[in-house]
Amino acid sequence: MYCENVLKTIGNTPLIKLGRMFADFPAQVFAKVESFNPGQSAKDRIALFMIEEAERKGLLKPGSTIIEATSGNTGFGLAMVSAIKGYKCVLTVSSKASKEKLSLLRSLGAQVVVCPSDAAPEDPRSYYSRAEQLAKEIPNSFYVAQNFNFDNSEAHYRTTGPEIWEQTQGKITHYVCCVGTGGTISGTARYLKEKNPNIKIIGVDAYGSVLKKYWQTGIFDKNEIFSYKVEGLGKTIIPDNVDFDLIDDFIKVTDKNSALKAREMARKEGMLIGYSSGSTLECIHKLKSQLKKDDVVVALFSDHGSRYLGKVFNDDWMRQQGFLQSYDQSEDDSSSYEAMKHKFRAYRLKYKKYLRQTMQSLKF
Ligand SMILES: Cc1ncc(COP(=O)(O)O)c(C=O)c1O
Repeated sequence: MYCENVLKTIGNTPLIKLGRMFADFPAQVFAKVESFNPGQSAKDRIALFMIEEAERKGLLKPGSTIIEATSGNTGFGLAMVSAIKGYKCVLTVSSKASKEKLSLLRSLGAQVVVCPSDAAPEDPRSYYSRAEQLAKEIPNSFYVAQNFNFDNSEAHYRTTGPEIWEQTQGKITHYVCCVGTGGTISGTARYLKEKNPNIKIIGVDAYGSVLKKYWQTGIFDKNEIFSYKVEGLGKTIIPDNVDFDLIDDFIKVTDKNSALKAREMARKEGMLIGYSSGSTLECIHKLKSQLKKDDVVVALFSDHGSRYLGKVFNDDWMRQQGFLQSYDQSEDDSSSYEAMKHKFRAYRLKYKKYLRQTMQSLKF
């Protein structure tokens, strides 16, 4: 038995029980682990579906160029699909994306255009504006526009939703999912609510994003916007793909707690998960008081921790951000070179002090 090509391995990702991380929880908590996709993220699903729908609608022809504004994961999926199907792929990427992500995209043959992360969407330098501009300039090109392309959420309606429903045997009570373009939460939630309208859909948002406030008030408040670290989570625009009516609650999480939770996950469950997956864990902790014994919570882990080795899983980066306050407070300081150096220094000082006291007591 073999797969015709790598695209045939997209989807049907496992649902894994998080028994150690949530041992003291009344409810059962599971993760839909999307890093089992070949491109190690949920975005493989939408990349394949959006491209095949564009082909079906006659928007893509042999030799076409696929263009997208992406923080990385969708780009990886698109580059992978382009490689198999023979399209050129140009990606505009925010400078916030990790170096590892940019290298991955280039490895698959994509052309990467890095744009300043602090440029507002309407700014011609922003990664959205650059993608639009390139789509106008490059003949025979197709601008995917994942924020506004409804095939994004449709991909999750057709695959992620049914998979979670079957894997929980219809017992799911809460679905916790990060919101960026909104494709993952909206498509999955639409399917799950059709099956059981009582399932609670919890959107995870970042401080610095406009989404929660818009859901609460209908107001797009620019004052909500400031720079934050978690990639893929939250937005500074309102994407068409966020179906706000399907979301029962929005919970905001911090950069620090998201990172600490992702690290805790590796030690407790042996799984290296992405930064935004840490955000879903923090969100579930905030939900604890609302959960009951028979509840079945499913968190969607969007991508893999290997994309964040230079950030969340790098002690020095964590300290630079102030996320590990001191060596004594660091939750896993034993492996870092800097931490070892610090420990030896502390031992040396203690030893010197002990020596001094001994010498004094012997009246040398
Ligand atoms: C790592 C990561 N987490 C979460 C999301 C949010 O998913 P969606 O865009 O489907 O809302 C993204 C989207 O880019 C992502 O890359």
